[in-house]
Amino acid sequence: MEKIIEKIVSLCKRRGFIFQSSEIYGGFSAVYDYGPLGIELKNNISQLWWKEMTQVHENIVGIDSGILMHPKIWEASGHVGAFNDPLVDCKKCKSRYRADEFSEEYSSLNWEEVQCPKCGTTGSLTSPRQFNLMFKTHVGPLQESGTEAFLRPETAQGIYVNYQLVQGSMRMKVPFGIAQIGKAFRNEIIARNFIFRTREFEQMEMQYFVKPGADDESLDFWKERRLKFYLDQLGISHKKLRFHQHNENELAHYAKEAWDIEYDFPFGWSEIEGIHNRTDYDLSQHQEFSGKNLSYFDQKNNDRFLPYIIETSAGLNRMLLTTIADAYWEDEKNNRTVMKFHPKIAPIKAVVCPLLKKDGLPEKARQIVNLLKPHFKVTYDQQGSIGKRYYRQDEAGTPFCITIDHKSLKDNTITLRYRDTMKQERISIDQLLQHIKENI
Ligand code: GAP
Repeated sequence: MEKIIEKIVSLCKRRGFIFQSSEIYGGFSAVYDYGPLGIELKNNISQLWWKEMTQVHENIVGIDSGILMHPKIWEASGHVGAFNDPLVDCKKCKSRYRADEFSEEYSSLNWEEVQCPKCGTTGSLTSPRQFNLMFKTHVGPLQESGTEAFLRPETAQGIYVNYQLVQGSMRMKVPFGIAQIGKAFRNEIIARNFIFRTREFEQMEMQYFVKPGADDESLDFWKERRLKFYLDQLGISHKKLRFHQHNENELAHYAKEAWDIEYDFPFGWSEIEGIHNRTDYDLSQHQEFSGKNLSYFDQKNNDRFLPYIIETSAGLNRMLLTTIADAYWEDEKNNRTVMKFHPKIAPIKAVVCPLLKKDGLPEKARQIVNLLKPHFKVTYDQQGSIGKRYYRQDEAGTPFCITIDHKSLKDNTITLRYRDTMKQERISIDQLLQHIKENI
């Protein structure tokens, strides 16, 4: 299984999905860049999420808040005090670990008896010390106290502190939601498993404001909706998805109840998204720290309360890794590697190939590119044998290959080849656009 992830990393680099950041300088740990196919895939996924949240649900609206915010926000949210991971170092080989990787009950471990996984020395690990995951920076030209700020470790707080402005300007009535997609930063002690855990990543979060008492039912609703998204919109295999409920030790400081949607990655079952009941924890904290009344007034029932919040919080990069891991297929029978992306998220929907580079076939192929490109991402390829061209697109996950031959010039038809089955059919150019649109 470890080999599979290595093959995926290599394919991602070779085909322009994902690159190690700053590669010409030897790389920069736990930061990745997205290449031409990676950004198409990422955009397709985030657009589906945005549509699902802010279009399908009429009572959810979007915002885009700043990465830098008032430092008091992070005191109120509990991140300054409690957003820590326990860190241990090996005094011999200088390796660094999260203590909870050794045991969930790491505080009761006798560290004198623990062996360093890298150098094998017993008793060389330091006792755990708490390490805050927020990145600090300074606002303004002087690096002095009072100018310190943080890069946000979650997008959620930008929603809470704007909630009354959004509610008032859009005349939202509880229950309603606010969605946001944006970068978040965490100074992770160890970052591994490719883009699974990185120091810079994107979150897609939705905060749903409900009346206290309606929270349990709302959590159940969102659990079901979010799982359905992976199945219906992203086309992820059902058997590779499951829920995991947080036990007392795992619950974040703000959560009353929390569930993870997990995927069976090549490195094991791991979280892709969290669905949390955050109660009125965040709003009451911000109310206390800001001194502002953050209650909601229900005019119809003449009732005033602090809403409870059900949060759906997904990492865009992890969702993308899920689609890549799920799509990766070694088709041994046909000696090819295929990225079986759901056509909705495939970076390129179709490739247009003239069979030969002469006899007017390239010109005809260009006409087809021009016909299709206003509607979806399409590419042109005339390099190499037609078989090689098909296999190149299989690796990129392109669901349709369109081939133009001499017959096309005579009867205005093309050969349409399907990525997964490799089946081919002859169809009229007049029907081509509609046919592909119906299948993506
Ligand atoms: N607002 C709640 C929150 O941030 P979280 O469980 O800490 O909850 C939510 O993070 C999601 O963000 C995770 O399920 C994961 O998909 C993504 N995420 C968190 N840390 C990450 C990291 N270091 N790298 C990539 N994605 C990360």
